[in-house]
Parts: sequence; structure tokens; C-alpha cells
Amino acid sequence: MQHDKVTPYQDRESKNQQVAKMFDAISGRYDFLNSLLSAGIHKGWRKKCVKLLEPKQPKRILDVATGTGDFAIACATLKPESITGIDISEGMMKVGREKLKQLKLDQLIHLETGNAEALHFTENSFDAIVVGFGVRNFQNLELGLSNLYKVLKPGGTLVVLEFSYPTNFLVKTFYNFYFSYITPLIGRIFSKDRRAYSYLTESVKAFPHNQDFVDILLKQHFKNATYKSLSWGVAAIYKGEK
Ligand SMILES: C[S@@+](CC[C@H](N)C(=O)[O-])C[C@H]1O[C@@H](n2cnc3c(N)ncnc32)[C@H](O)[C@@H]1O
Repeated sequence: MQHDKVTPYQDRESKNQQVAKMFDAISGRYDFLNSLLSAGIHKGWRKKCVKLLEPKQPKRILDVATGTGDFAIACATLKPESITGIDISEGMMKVGREKLKQLKLDQLIHLETGNAEALHFTENSFDAIVVGFGVRNFQNLELGLSNLYKVLKPGGTLVVLEFSYPTNFLVKTFYNFYFSYITPLIGRIFSKDRRAYSYLTESVKAFPHNQDFVDILLKQHFKNATYKSLSWGVAAIYKGEK
């Protein structure tokens, strides 16, 4: 798919390798920049995702593209038996593991190296899978989603949180300006990687959103797939079931 070709750097490494390298480079500043660039709104978005999982009380949860573990940490309120976070960036998980220790969640949440596009779990393993701002970075979106479908238990739920695109003219104008100029500028000033926050803008623009992403979930056999816009369409929550 076209968006799979949007990569952080223009070098010969695979998208997976480039993405891992980029997140390793910005891992120390990721949480700070996340809060600065979204004015803390991202925390409320994750809480809304977790609320969707409450009725099913999932016991085993997988957080794909866990990064520094924020989505996994938000899922702890569901009181599951275990939460596993996987990521291709060791640097991001190193920061995450420190946070888990400080929050005394390191017994409940376990972070390990893993690629959504080459999962090592047995089929039908998890009651719920969450992915926060991760699917946009997959090298092969359809392969990643089909793997998630495999390891989800029948009746299990997938929740994806991702940037979307506003429809309101005023919000859209602000959104375009913010993503085109402010995000790359702040990213360049505060992160050690010149490309990281320009890649963010490029990848968000190229990525399918709302019904287009729902259609991709349906194609990968997820049932009852829906989306809900957040903050005037800046982001969206996608839900699908097996
Ligand atoms: C923007 S961060 C999101 C981190 C976290 N989920 C959050 O909500 O803040 C994206 C993460 O996706 C990871 N990632 C990208 N492609 C991946 C893949 N194929 N498998 C696993 N993790 C991946 C990156 O290494 C990075 O840590």
C-alpha cells in the first residue's frame, strides 16, 4: 500500500529498521514531546480506548507498538491478569521499563522485543489487543493486522488509536498548519533526530483514516469494525472483533 512506502529516512534499510532506529534516537524525549505537542490530550484519548474494553474485562492484553508503555499502563485499570507490550525499538522499551518500575507495575506489565509483522505468540492468545499510534509505522499494514487477528482470541477485541483528519474547515486549517510547521519545528528543536517529526507529518497525511481504515480492518476479517472521531477529528479510535 502507498503509505507503507512513507519512511523516516531515504536509505536502503527496511521501513522496520528505519522506524526502530528513529524511535531509538528520540526515545529519551518521546514522552516529553508527546505531552508538549498534544498538550496532554493523548492521555484522555487512551483512557477512552480503555473504557471500550471495560465491559469485556479482558484477562490477557497485548499492547502492540508499546513504545514507552503508556497504553499498557492505561490498561492496568482494567485489572487484567497480564499485559504484554511488544515493540521493535529497544530504546523506547528501556524508557518504558523504568516507568513500570517506578509505578510498581513491572509485575503486571512485561515489555519485550517483538514485531507486529512477525509475531511469535500462538494463535488465539489474547482477549484484547491495543495499538496506539503504531499501525501507521508498520512496514506492511495488512500483514501486521492479519497477525493481530491471528493471536486475538475468538470474541476478543482490537482497539487502535491513530491520528485522523478533521473535516471542519477551521479545525482542518489549524491542523494542517500545526502538523506542517509547528510539529516538525518543535521536534527538530527538542529531539535529537531532524527527520523524526517531519516523518510524523508525512506518515499521518498518507495514512488511511476513518471509514478507509475500517474497510482495511474488515478486509482482515475483523467483525463489527467501527470508528469514533476524537477532538474534532484530530484522532480516531478504531474497534474490531474476532
Ligand atoms: C508513536 S510510538 C507509539 C508508542 C505508544 N504506543 C504510545 O501510544 O505512545 C510508535 C511505536 O511503534 C513501534 N513500531 C513501529 N512498527 C512496529 C512494528 N512493526 N512492530 C512493533 N512495534 C512497532 C515503534 O518502534 C514505536 O515505539
